Amino acid sequence: MRNIYSSRPYAAITAIGGYLPQERRTNFDLEQVCDTSDEWIIKRTGIKERRILEAGLATSDMAVMAIHDLCTRYNKDVADVDAIIVATSTPDVLMPATANIIAQKLNLNNVWAFDMNAACSGFLYALDMGASLVETERYKNVLIVGADNISAFVNIHDRSTNILFGDGAGVIWLEPSAEEGIIDAFMQSNGDGRDFLNIEGGGSLYPTSEKPFNQERSYLKQDGKVVFKQAVQSMSNACKSILERNQLGIEAVDWLIPHQANKRIIDAVGKDINIQKNKTLTNIEYRGNTIAATIPLCIWENIKQIQKGDLLMLTAFGAGFSWGASLLRWMI
Ligand code: ACO
Repeated sequence: MRNIYSSRPYAAITAIGGYLPQERRTNFDLEQVCDTSDEWIIKRTGIKERRILEAGLATSDMAVMAIHDLCTRYNKDVADVDAIIVATSTPDVLMPATANIIAQKLNLNNVWAFDMNAACSGFLYALDMGASLVETERYKNVLIVGADNISAFVNIHDRSTNILFGDGAGVIWLEPSAEEGIIDAFMQSNGDGRDFLNIEGGGSLYPTSEKPFNQERSYLKQDGKVVFKQAVQSMSNACKSILERNQLGIEAVDWLIPHQANKRIIDAVGKDINIQKNKTLTNIEYRGNTIAATIPLCIWENIKQIQKGDLLMLTAFGAGFSWGASLLRWMI
């Protein structure tokens, strides 16, 4: 599908980093604050615990830690970065962009930095945007961050959401490459999903200055059943579409890295697209759903399994609704 401009380079991932906060929130912790059980949560979601960022820190702090991790592991100099795209739905503040705050913390004074809000699909959206920047040859070194401090927007007493979400940050470095890197991306969205998964408060429709401000609006709300069904259908269709237009069968894929929302969603997508069970990478059991960070963190935590030259298929679904799939050749 890719490379209609065949003289242009590919964009390839050349480094990856991640960060997880220290604090663990287990199912037993949740049993103390609402009517749920470890057994129910494991059976219905596959999640045992999540990481929670300490108060006083924010999304940018996790992103900076993830970038430091990447630079240390892969001997990269952050001063070489031309652009930073931050996929997040939980910015430090509404304005400026979290990408600007990250750049400031990294002492980068002339970098193009902006946020991408596509909820759980944010990392895939940003990856495609970053790859396009590299392919134009106007930007050489592009950081794609997926980071969310979603625990700041989860009502700890609401069992329909508190069981699912955790905090974290992942980052990848994109550079031009003569060899195949990012091969294709298939991204879609449909605003009809807006009522089924959202955080309404704090924007211009329901500003926090509104008196009285409805505290409930500052929390993430969802209709779990609708989201579940739509997530399975959309991710499966995106995977099938991207394979078909690249004339690839599912057996060509070495690793499926799906958004980590619910183990049952991951299993249902795997079954629908007919991928061998041991080709799906997960980390949901001890991380939960870290929103835009799930995919880079899942790769980062399973890095030992992935070999240079492997074909990766990434897929995500999130608020909007937004969804997509990416195909790439792992070049590290
Ligand atoms: N603990 C114990 N019991 C519970 C809990 C809980 N946490 N939640 C619901 N129940 C009960 C219900 O009351 C119901 O009881 P009943 O049968 O007596 O009426 C029963 O368990 C089944 O409830 P359901 O809501 O049908 O449970 P379901 O299997 O749908 O699981 C869940 C709920 C886990 C939320 C699931 O729907 C889900 O994961 N949906 C997808 C959500 C998601 O991925 N969101 C993020 C998307 S990405 C992004 O952009 C943020």
